[in-house]
Amino acid sequence: MWYKTKVTDMLGIDYPVLQGPFGGGLSSVELVSTVSNAGGLGGYGAYTLSPQEIVDIDAKIRAATDKPYNLNLWVSDHDTHNGTVTDEAYEQTAKLFKPYFDEAGIPLPGKPASFKSRFEDQLQVVFDIRPRVFSFMFGVLPPDVLEKLKGLGIKTVGAATTLDEAIALDNSGVDMIIASGFEAGGHRPSFLAPAEQSLTGTFVLLQLIKEKVKVPVVAAGGIANGRGIAGALTLGADAVQVGTAFLATDESGALPVHREMLFSDAAKYTSLTRAYTGRLGRGLTSRVMKELLGKEKQFLPFPLQTSFISSLRKAAIDKQKWDLILFWGGQISPILKHKKAAVLMQSLIEETNLIMGS
Ligand SMILES: Cc1cc2nc3c(=O)[nH]c(=O)nc-3n(C[C@H](O)[C@H](O)[C@H](O)COP(=O)(O)O)c2cc1C
Repeated sequence: MWYKTKVTDMLGIDYPVLQGPFGGGLSSVELVSTVSNAGGLGGYGAYTLSPQEIVDIDAKIRAATDKPYNLNLWVSDHDTHNGTVTDEAYEQTAKLFKPYFDEAGIPLPGKPASFKSRFEDQLQVVFDIRPRVFSFMFGVLPPDVLEKLKGLGIKTVGAATTLDEAIALDNSGVDMIIASGFEAGGHRPSFLAPAEQSLTGTFVLLQLIKEKVKVPVVAAGGIANGRGIAGALTLGADAVQVGTAFLATDESGALPVHREMLFSDAAKYTSLTRAYTGRLGRGLTSRVMKELLGKEKQFLPFPLQTSFISSLRKAAIDKQKWDLILFWGGQISPILKHKKAAVLMQSLIEETNLIMGS
């Protein structure tokens, strides 16, 4: 039975299929509960939420499912010095982006407000609400935090983009590790070396990590059907994490146009860029993304670049100027088929059954 693995045993779920959590408002209660109710593990990306918002979301998820689910945060949530940047750095970014604000017909925003890390406060909420699973990216948790989570019976899951990161997570004592290949949509969660130097494909990374770490490994990046699941399990994965295919379903928090884009010809081309948030991430290749390639030094650090660009993004969406926007998405997008999360879950299971036997 392919679907009985160390991960299903540890988490108390029926199938080793995790729905990738999405930060930045793209997760939804409906998506999480649909996946968990179908026997997988729904995941909610909460790194942009306030502690109270996390409490409220958690209550809604618990009202929609009594199955385990995963709450996700970012250990490192900014790359600024003291939360801000110099006026010179802001002027440089403003100059680079001015033509795009002009094109969208809106004024340049001022220097973004100073950012204050939220992680410590968010973590307190995790201790209080005790999700069955807590996953995190962009770092390793301090030993006392990990101990406390374990003491509360919360399973911990860290994300690695390199073998070194996986070993660091393993040594820290996490319960399982996500092997996050560069095919994946969204941010690259690298934390030991720059993300640009940590680009390994899912199926290589999975095998490297499987060979060297003790805990179960979850393959993430480029998996969207039964073939992908069967391939990952055959290469040693104890579960898979599927992101882009769930992002494209009606239940996700993505805008309708974003979901349409994932099913369109535009999805054939994806790139890694720092242009939209300040950290490296994969999205559908747009004109502005191509034009900004190689100009990373002129972007603001994460997350100030996100705030700087937010009015441009909104205006471009309002005016349907799609070539000015980045829509997150992974390399597997062109083969996506399903628009309903429950149907996608069912199809992932049935397709894998056909290949691996039920
Ligand atoms: C839009 C988007 C946002 C994401 N946000 C997060 C996040 O906040 N935390 C996290 O651990 N992973 C995040 N991910 C990664 C996914 O959870 C998952 O690992 C990844 O999408 C799997 O690769 P795939 O897109 O090829 O299926 C995000 C992915 C996408 C596409």
